[in-house]
Amino acid sequence: MLNNKNIILGITGSIAAYKAADIASKLTQAGAKVDVVMTEPATKFITPLTLRGITGRAVVADMFDPASQHSIEHIALVEAADVMVIAPATASIIAKMAVGIADDMVSLTVLATRAPVMVAPAMDVDMFANPVTRENLARLKARGFIIVDPGYGRMASGKVGWGRLADVDKIMAAIEGVVGGSADLAGKRLVVTAGGTREYIDPVRYIGNPSSGKMGYALAEAARDRGAKVTLITASSLPEPEGVTVVPVETAAQMKQAVTKAVAKADALLMAAAVADYQSRTVARSKIKKDSPGLTLELVRTPDILGEVRGKFLRVGFAAESDNIITNAKKKLAKKKLDLIVANDITDKKSGFGVDTNKVTLLAKKGKAESLPLMSKREVADKILDRVVGMLGKKK
Ligand code: CTP
Repeated sequence: MLNNKNIILGITGSIAAYKAADIASKLTQAGAKVDVVMTEPATKFITPLTLRGITGRAVVADMFDPASQHSIEHIALVEAADVMVIAPATASIIAKMAVGIADDMVSLTVLATRAPVMVAPAMDVDMFANPVTRENLARLKARGFIIVDPGYGRMASGKVGWGRLADVDKIMAAIEGVVGGSADLAGKRLVVTAGGTREYIDPVRYIGNPSSGKMGYALAEAARDRGAKVTLITASSLPEPEGVTVVPVETAAQMKQAVTKAVAKADALLMAAAVADYQSRTVARSKIKKDSPGLTLELVRTPDILGEVRGKFLRVGFAAESDNIITNAKKKLAKKKLDLIVANDITDKKSGFGVDTNKVTLLAKKGKAESLPLMSKREVADKILDRVVGMLGKKK
């Protein structure tokens, strides 16, 4: 849905500038017209030539370049922009924008454009934590700038903390949210589950699985961007998405309780969570001591949430399979009385647990199976929601 959108990508001088090439590439591949403006320091990290090669359009880095300020073309691009994205945004550009300084191509374009401006900060931990940076960001936020919060991790300096440029997928999703939005789920209530449940053995140990929750979060964010009211019931520790009601849970039993409550008013339930199938029959009150050579656990079934929670809402399930994918998924579709099942091959390294991509097959009650190519979880989410929109339309 970024097709034919006009996007100005402002790049400033951070070590993360190289990631802007990835953003430019993804936007261009999605059909957007990407016009890059850069500060002079940014050109030390990544060349305008690279960006020109990726976007196929002129790149402006020099304020005194005749192609920049005065050319009709450049003014036209500023006026036609659907969004301006500054990624990475240094502490310096954030400070300039906060007070309205316009002495480089990026700050100047920000001041000139009437398009929404999105800022993805990237800087060292201490610079990000500095009260002046916090204050400047708060000012920008108050003025309607969209801030894509940085991530936590290891910096080029070796320090660990907040300040890393947000994941490219997160930035892409934010852009999509601003300009790509077809509000085809407006007024709809969706309940999405995510993550792997933890079934406790004692207060400090549990049986778990490696589900990251990324697929469920991608669904929740995509549904939000399409106008839905989303409740995300999550057993994952991923950061909470904005604009979504988040209900944290740990066990299958807690998830069932939260789902039962949330679906009462819902139009659809999408169960992306990897719910543990078994739990320990008893949960020790205090930590189990290793005073015997072995430990036998008796496991009993957890509630089958999707199987047991019934109602008028649309039901979408997931099937993580390692073999006979389609046959197994079809069985689950029928057994759990689902409207749609999303089957994925967990033996494929690029698909399933933990990664940002997924390769799935969609199977509905009626119609042929649709096998999708490998794509980002966000793209998979939109494909699933396309089906949900279609089915909700028919239900009316
Ligand atoms: N599910 C659920 N409650 C459970 C287990 C799974 O709601 N206790 C949901 C999952 O969120 C998913 C779908 O059911 O949407 C998966 O179906 P299931 O038959 O449970 O799949 P597996 O757990 O993969 O089954 P199996 O291990 O038998 O292949």
